[in-house]
Amino acid sequence: MRVHVDQEICQGHGRCYSLAPELFEPDDLGNSSEIGDGTVPPGQEDAARRAVANCPEYAITLEDGER
Ligand code: F3S
Repeated sequence: MRVHVDQEICQGHGRCYSLAPELFEPDDLGNSSEIGDGTVPPGQEDAARRAVANCPEYAITLEDGER
C-alpha cells in the first residue's frame, strides 16, 4: 500500500500529518508530502485510510498494491 499527495491540490490543511505523522510531513508552507516513496509500513494502514478520508481537498491517493 502506498500514499501520494498531489501537490497541485494540497492546500495545507494539515490533517494528514496530524493523523498520520509517520506517513506525511509538512513543508515550510504547511503543505504535505508523503514520506519517502509513500510506502505504508505494516500497522499504518488504518492511519493511511484515515488521512485519505480526512483531507478536505481530496489531495491524497492510496494505491493498494496487495490484493
Ligand atoms: Fe494537504 Fe490534505 Fe494534508 S490539503 S496538508 S494533503 S490534509
